[in-house]
This record gives sequence, structure tokens and C-alpha cells, in this order.
Amino acid sequence: MLKPLLSTLVLVLASPVLAEPDAAKGETSFRKCKSCHSIVAPDGTEVQKGGKTGPNLWGIVGNPVASNPDFKYGDGILAAKAKGAVWDEAQLTAYLQDPNAWVKQASGDEGASSKMTFKLPKAEEAADIAAYLATIK
Ligand code: HEC
Repeated sequence: MLKPLLSTLVLVLASPVLAEPDAAKGETSFRKCKSCHSIVAPDGTEVQKGGKTGPNLWGIVGNPVASNPDFKYGDGILAAKAKGAVWDEAQLTAYLQDPNAWVKQASGDEGASSKMTFKLPKAEEAADIAAYLATIK
């Protein structure tokens, strides 16, 4: 009983202390995504003007993975979708840091890969963007 508790405590204490995600900072950092992603509301309002290489990110947090009917997703992320993956802030933060690694893990297929070639290695910046995207719905 005590042993697992203690190892959990050690894990918690050993984790780097990250600041609370900051949606305002995330909005600024979103400029790194705009070459490939726009954010357009269902009524056509452009929250962020951007490219079309990646899907529109309106309301992404809370949505099932790869659920935009207007976008042709890669096989890897579709396999993650088939496993029932849903975007929450934690999943999104992990995905942004390494989309390929996330797709392998979420699909359960070591051979799977992501069509998103961009990585945002800083956990804090990824969490800020996830917090920002959670406000867009
Ligand atoms: C070089 C282009 C490119 C950049 C830059 C880029 N993305 Fe992507 N993104 C893509 C592509 C392409 C996909 C589709 C992935 C697939 O089908 O495997 C995607 C998929 C996604 C998805 C999954 C969408 C869904 O419908 O499930 C999210 C979330 C996402 N990107 C967020 C971001 C964020 C946030 C940034 C900025 C930090 C970013 N992307 C930067 C190209 C890009």
C-alpha cells in the first residue's frame, strides 16, 4: 500500500514545475501555426487567418481527433481516431511537442506517423497554445 504511494510522491516531486498554462501567451505563439492552420467559426468568422495545409482548428479541444469532414487526414491520425482519441489540453500538449510520437502511441502502431511535420518542443509553450485553443469554441 505504502510503496506505490511513495513512488507516486517521488514522481510528483521529480517533475519539473511548470507554470500554469497561459492562454494569452498561447494566442501569441499561435502565429507559429498559421502557415498551416486557420481558425474559422461555423458562421465564417475568421478568428485566425491562416493556411490550409492543416485542418481548421475551431473548437478543437473537446472534439474527437481527426473529425473535420473537410480535411483529408493521414492514416496514422485516423488510426488514433479509430481508437476513440479525443482532444483535451493534455493530449494536445503532448501532440504539439511530437506529433509522430503521439500518433504512434495513440494508434498503438509503432509504424504509424503524422502528416504534421511541425514540432513545438517546449512543453510550456505547447501547454499555452492548448489553453488558448480551449477558449475557442
Ligand atoms: C507545416 C504545417 C503545419 C504547422 C506549422 C502546424 N501544423 Fe498542425 N497539422 C498539420 C497537418 C498537415 C495536420 C494533419 C495531420 C494528419 O493528418 O496526420 C495537422 C493536424 C493538427 C491537429 C489535429 C487536428 C484534428 O482535426 O484532429 C492539431 C490539433 C494541430 N495540427 C495543431 C497545430 C498547432 C497548435 C500548431 C502550431 C503550434 C500546428 N498544428 C502547426 C500541419 C501543420
